[in-house]
Amino acid sequence: MPLDIVIADITTLHVDAIVNAANASLLGGGGVDGAIHRAAGPALLQACRQLPSVRPGVRCPTGEARITPGFALPAAHVIHTVGPVWQGGTQGEARLLASCHANAMRLLREHGLRTIAFPAISCGVYGYPVAQAAAVALASLRDELARDDRVSITVCCFSNSVADIFRRVRDATPDDGTPFNAA
Ligand code: APR
Repeated sequence: MPLDIVIADITTLHVDAIVNAANASLLGGGGVDGAIHRAAGPALLQACRQLPSVRPGVRCPTGEARITPGFALPAAHVIHTVGPVWQGGTQGEARLLASCHANAMRLLREHGLRTIAFPAISCGVYGYPVAQAAAVALASLRDELARDDRVSITVCCFSNSVADIFRRVRDATPDDGTPFNAA
C-alpha cells in the first residue's frame, strides 16, 4: 500500500484522521497545531480540555497520542501526539518520535479508521533535523504498513524542501526491511 508524501496544508485533507504535532497541554500552539485548531474551530479546544490530565499541564506525554473529533475540519478525527524536542539526539528522541507514529497508528486501528495524514512531527519549533526525523518517521510507518496493508498513510509536508528530504529518504531505501538511512 502507498506511503504518499504530499505538499499541502494538512487541514485541507479529506482523510479519516489527521495527526497534530501538539504540545503536552493539548491546548493549542503555533505551527500545524495552531492551523488545526483554527480550521477545526473552538469545539476542538473544548474537546481537548475534556481529555484527562496525567499530571498538571500534561494531557499527553511526549511519544503518546490522543484522539478527538475533527469538528469543522474535512478530516473526521484529529490524533494529537507530542513529538520530542530535539536535544542533540542523545535523549531518546528517535524512540519517542517512533512512538508518536506507532501510537497514532494504534489509535487509528482501534477506531476502525483507514486513512491518515501525518505532518513532519517535531520538524518545526521542536527542531528535529528533518532528514533524521524522516528516517525515523518513515521506518515506523513502513512497519505499520507491513503489519496492516489496508491502511493508507500520507505524510503531509508544508514546504517543498521538507517534502524533498522525506522523498529522498523514502526513495533511498529499498522496501526489503533494510532500515532507513538518513545519511
Ligand atoms: N500543514 C502541514 N504541515 C504544517 C502546517 C500545516 N498547516 N503548518 C506547519 N506545518 C509543518 C511545519 O512546517 C513543520 O515542518 O509541520 C512541521 C512541524 O512543525 P511544528 O508545527 O512547529 O511542530 P513541532 O516541531 O512538532 O513543534 C510542536 O509547536 O506549535 C507548537 O503546540 C505546538 O508546542 C508544540 C510545538
